[in-house]
Amino acid sequence: MDSSNIVLLPISKENEMECISLKPKEDQINLVASNSDSLEHAKKEITSRPYGIYADDNMVGFVLFDNEVYSDGYYWILRFMIDHRFQGNGYGKSAIKQVIEFLKKRNDCREIRVSHVPSNIVANALYKSCGFEETGEFEECGDPILRYRMINT
Ligand SMILES: CC(C)(COP(=O)(O)OP(=O)(O)OC[C@H]1O[C@@H](n2cnc3c(N)ncnc32)[C@H](O)[C@@H]1OP(=O)(O)O)[C@@H](O)C(=O)NCCC(=O)NCCS
Repeated sequence: MDSSNIVLLPISKENEMECISLKPKEDQINLVASNSDSLEHAKKEITSRPYGIYADDNMVGFVLFDNEVYSDGYYWILRFMIDHRFQGNGYGKSAIKQVIEFLKKRNDCREIRVSHVPSNIVANALYKSCGFEETGEFEECGDPILRYRMINT
């Protein structure tokens, strides 16, 4: 499978069970909520939309991100994971690049934000390799917040 073939497709009634079945590795379960929790969360966060990350017609992961500007003025990536069977193939990095390209089309998107559990050095490095940088700000729970600044701002 080739990571350049990644596409993001909206989660619908047809693919939500497949999405819920995706799981990270056992030692990663405290790094991200379950996809079933994330789909519930998506209903409350009305600016966000859930997407399956597809490689060659297989759903390999999940990402939940704002499709409209959030009340704080930013677009947030709220949840992101690649199923344990498909990690290490470049799909995660490719998916975040696709999120950036998607949001570049939004005229009011000046900054994408994301946070992660402090110990999640893999996610931190992945976001930075896609152009994110530290903000120096933290969530109330202590998670560091990163940002991607759109070039045309
Ligand atoms: C973070 C996550 C999405 C990465 O997905 P992935 O498809 O395996 O990542 P990629 O294959 O695109 O790899 C991206 C980079 O991370 C590195 N990487 C991936 N898994 C790694 C691991 N377990 N240990 C060290 N490096 C790792 C890769 O080598 C690659 O580095 P490079 O760009 O220098 O080549 C995945 O590990 C995951 O789902 N983790 C659990 C949930 C999570 O942490 N979500 C993020 C919440 S903020």
